[in-house]
Amino acid sequence: MPVMEIKKMGDPVLKQICAPVEHVDKKIRRLLDDMAETMYAKEGVGLAAPQVGVPLRMAVINVDKKKLYDLINPVIVEREGSMVDQEGCLSFPGLFGDVERAEKVRVEYLNRYGKKKFVEAEGLLARALQHEIDHLDGKLFIEIAQNLSEGRRARE
Ligand code: CO
Repeated sequence: MPVMEIKKMGDPVLKQICAPVEHVDKKIRRLLDDMAETMYAKEGVGLAAPQVGVPLRMAVINVDKKKLYDLINPVIVEREGSMVDQEGCLSFPGLFGDVERAEKVRVEYLNRYGKKKFVEAEGLLARALQHEIDHLDGKLFIEIAQNLSEGRRARE
């Protein structure tokens, strides 16, 4: 499976509002596989389709190297609380900033076979879900981050 090129800061595809996936077919599954491969190769925990130049509502997430989420047409249906932590993005290599996110989210999505699923998440998974779903609406973390800096800040 090929590792895809990641679109970087300034590429207009990153600002696009992505279209829903209409048919979950083999082509979509292949794209999800290539996105996962690309995410692993770049050591990211999430990747959205527009980041590989495809303006469709799809993302892959794996925050613990155990469970890979293939998300098609994901929607946040519940959010609770708030948390602030450092965030980065494969489209902005080396840039990090503090981003406020909901502490817990419930997300509805279609899996790689088009079956409706829900995931309830907190912590890093909740953060990744919100970050990737923002990508599908052309929203970038640098637009909402505080204390943007180059390089990851050491944890206190
Ligand atoms: Co990102």
